[in-house]
Amino acid sequence: MTDELASTVTDAIEAIRSASSLEALRQAETAALGKRSPLAALSRQLGSMPAEQRKDSGARLQEARSRVSAELDRRRAELEIAERSRRHEAERMDLTEVIGESSRGHVHLLSQTRDELEDVFVGMGYRVAEGPEVETDWYNFEALNMPPAHPARGMWDTLYVRWGEPESTVMRTHTSPVQIRVMEAQSPPIYIVAPGRVYRRDTPDARHLATFHQIEGLVIDRGITFGDLAGTIETFTGSYFGPGIHSRLRPSYFPFTEPSAEFEVTCAICKGDGCRTCSDTGWVELGGCGMVHPNVLRAVGIDPEQWSGFAFGFGIDRCAQVRHEIADMRVFLDNDIRLLSQF
Ligand code: PHE
Repeated sequence: MTDELASTVTDAIEAIRSASSLEALRQAETAALGKRSPLAALSRQLGSMPAEQRKDSGARLQEARSRVSAELDRRRAELEIAERSRRHEAERMDLTEVIGESSRGHVHLLSQTRDELEDVFVGMGYRVAEGPEVETDWYNFEALNMPPAHPARGMWDTLYVRWGEPESTVMRTHTSPVQIRVMEAQSPPIYIVAPGRVYRRDTPDARHLATFHQIEGLVIDRGITFGDLAGTIETFTGSYFGPGIHSRLRPSYFPFTEPSAEFEVTCAICKGDGCRTCSDTGWVELGGCGMVHPNVLRAVGIDPEQWSGFAFGFGIDRCAQVRHEIADMRVFLDNDIRLLSQF
């Protein structure tokens, strides 16, 4: 029986080692240890053996079985690892297609515009500030010289947030509240711009969006005049829009500036000759500006006898529209790759 046992074990181990898949290994296992295996047949012979020989052969058979089992375990572990890495390989996503040169993403046109506007003012010595988009009534209106029920509040179609007392919390309607926050946090001289998103309860059309972007400017120093404001606006217009585009100021009204003005720039589409976009005036309105109202300075504890300044605020979206001659502003929010990829 010894020789037969030895060759049975060798054959079984051979079959186990050459099994190339878990399925093949299961077959090799049945062949080596199953009911119809040579080892099972040898076990059956034990019954007809004399007692002392049976003990000896039984032990040897048992040892043979455990060698075969150990080999099975070893091979199973090997095959499982191989199978797992094959599966990982098959399931791996090929990201090289997605990251290909042609479809690499880039900064959105509006963010590019904001960055360029910031650069123009940083070049003129301004710092960049920011404030929250959800504001309290104090920052959005009251500190800007609009007490409760002031009729000028109606200039902004306001979205209210259900928070605290009714109508105490708003989605900011302009970036002007950042003026107040900056003046509360630092003392003059102040030279800042504050770009950011603003909200209005408006129906979007070709030249208006319900959420859009403004950039606010604030200068507080000694002896600042309306001439400084006009010069700053004209310098900005030339450096952002390029030669041939100029600015003009027209009298207007804002409760937080006195005097107040609207500022307009040469229509980039007709270069001032008059066209449909500028309603034949040759000018496009960009924003509002004026000398900071003494009441605003008082609200933040700055002495209007010592300090004066100007502020302005205009649409970032409108700047991009004028400069890139975009007929309908609503495309800024569509995320249509055919538009985005042009800028
Ligand atoms: N906040 C004003 C608006 O949104 C613009 C403005 C800013 C006017 C600063 C004057 C001074 O209409």
